[in-house]
Amino acid sequence: MFLWRYTAAVLVLLSAGWCERLPPRLVSSSPARLEKSFGRHSRLHQCQYMLKHLQDGDQITVHMPPDIAGHWVSDSCEVRSGPEFLTRSYHFYNNYTFQALQFYYRDNQCTEPSYTLLIEGSVHPRQASWVVRGGTEADFQLSRVLLVSHSPAAAEALQVKLEQSCGLVKRLDPGLSYELWADGTKHSSRDCARGLDFSMQELQLLRMERLHRHGDPATNAEELFLGDVHTERAQRRLHKPSGYQPPLQSVKTYDASCVTCQIVSEADLYNPPVLPSQNERPLRLYGNWVSRRCEVRPGVLFLTRHFVFYEDSNIWEGHYYHFSDPVCRHPTFSISAKGHYSQGVPSTAVMGGTEFTFTVTHMKVTPMDMATASILNVFSGDKCGKQGSWKLGVQQDVTPTLGCAALGIRLPHTEYELFRIGRDSAGRSLLFNGQRPTNGSSPDQPHKRATSYQPPLIRCISSQKGSTGIGKEGDHHFRLGNGYKTLDQHLIFVIMLVELVFWSI
Ligand SMILES: *[C@@H]1O[C@H](CO)[C@@H](O)[C@H](O)[C@H]1NC(C)=O
Ligand SMILES: *[C@@H]1O[C@H](CO)[C@@H](O)[C@H](O)[C@H]1NC(C)=O
Repeated sequence: MFLWRYTAAVLVLLSAGWCERLPPRLVSSSPARLEKSFGRHSRLHQCQYMLKHLQDGDQITVHMPPDIAGHWVSDSCEVRSGPEFLTRSYHFYNNYTFQALQFYYRDNQCTEPSYTLLIEGSVHPRQASWVVRGGTEADFQLSRVLLVSHSPAAAEALQVKLEQSCGLVKRLDPGLSYELWADGTKHSSRDCARGLDFSMQELQLLRMERLHRHGDPATNAEELFLGDVHTERAQRRLHKPSGYQPPLQSVKTYDASCVTCQIVSEADLYNPPVLPSQNERPLRLYGNWVSRRCEVRPGVLFLTRHFVFYEDSNIWEGHYYHFSDPVCRHPTFSISAKGHYSQGVPSTAVMGGTEFTFTVTHMKVTPMDMATASILNVFSGDKCGKQGSWKLGVQQDVTPTLGCAALGIRLPHTEYELFRIGRDSAGRSLLFNGQRPTNGSSPDQPHKRATSYQPPLIRCISSQKGSTGIGKEGDHHFRLGNGYKTLDQHLIFVIMLVELVFWSI
């Protein structure tokens, strides 16, 4: 364990070394000008109030190990990489067995069911996770997996797939169940679930949150977070979750406005939920968007985000607030990035998604705890702001040093993005952007563009029309966008380094 941490520390130093090969600075702009362009005109107050409310508003309690017994359902049509569109309805029983239904669809609104999997087995919560603070590790065992297809077309497509992957000979008929996999000797020679890239690795990481709204026990809500699914299908079966999927809602406590929860909770293997179709909303990014909850990034990062889009000038800003704890109460550092974006075509790969290109050209960093400030001061040379000058709570522009070597951020940076607009059960607009590749790489080439999404942001207030004038300097080459993944990876190292420093004191 310690050795591993040490390695991470060395990697941080190495990554600093790589950046020495960067070309001399390309962007010059005075701090005053940047200040002006960085959101002074946007109405940050409402957004900041919403983000703050995440920390000290509703009270969240987390039970470890979690008591997951009960019936849990999706509250929306979920998107997994591929893409796959699905809803889930999972029963966990007191004797540690479970029955999980996964309903798959042809379309991004989950109106046309194609097939359903019924997965049975057992799951045992174990110890607190080392990988994701606040999560609980669990072991699971499958006992069987059943498949039912819901249309002749779906049956035919599955037939072709399963004939290739597991030598299926039996004819799949719509509405009849077929055993894809079973524990024991009966089918030991073949595993048809593999042909569907099926995996229940998500059961290896659990977190249950109980939300106490305004102290009123009648309005408590329970949500169950299960482990994330690898963004590359071929990796799913070996993936050890390091983040979460969208939470499932307890059937006992879901909000009455959640029509999807109700429809999904009533479905079964032969009668999949059919969600009501909705008019696709036009994609209007313009304005301010903030996280709805403290988000977990694969690895050890917790953060909230605030994006601002100035539509007419195609300038964007992203504010990323990092924390050391799973309810986002203890800040470690924050990053403000700025650049430009352009909207592309509707995605041909992901129904309902739209392609974008994001570039980051300007960035500022604020250390929010002593450990991060010390780390930033450790780096020599001019690779991250002014050497040795980092102070707790004091923001520095790292654009002149082309980013921050210690944080693994290099400017300018371009990312290929996928966006969609959705709405929550109360009808408010949600903005989804692309999931980061699980392997830590950056979607810096078009073929690496995401096919699934991160947790959504909610619109906090539309910004003023007058703010568009500030965009002028965004016309040179910027970058920021995607870097986020790479960034995360390096941040993990930094955090581990921080721990190392503490441990050696
Ligand atoms: C566990 O409990 C469920 C629901 O009460 C029941 O259907 C199932 O047969 C039980 N399984 C075992 C192995 O006891
Ligand atoms: C990481 O994932 C991306 C996108 O899924 C892929 O293009 C890339 O080759 C992967 N890189 C490594 C090192 O596995």
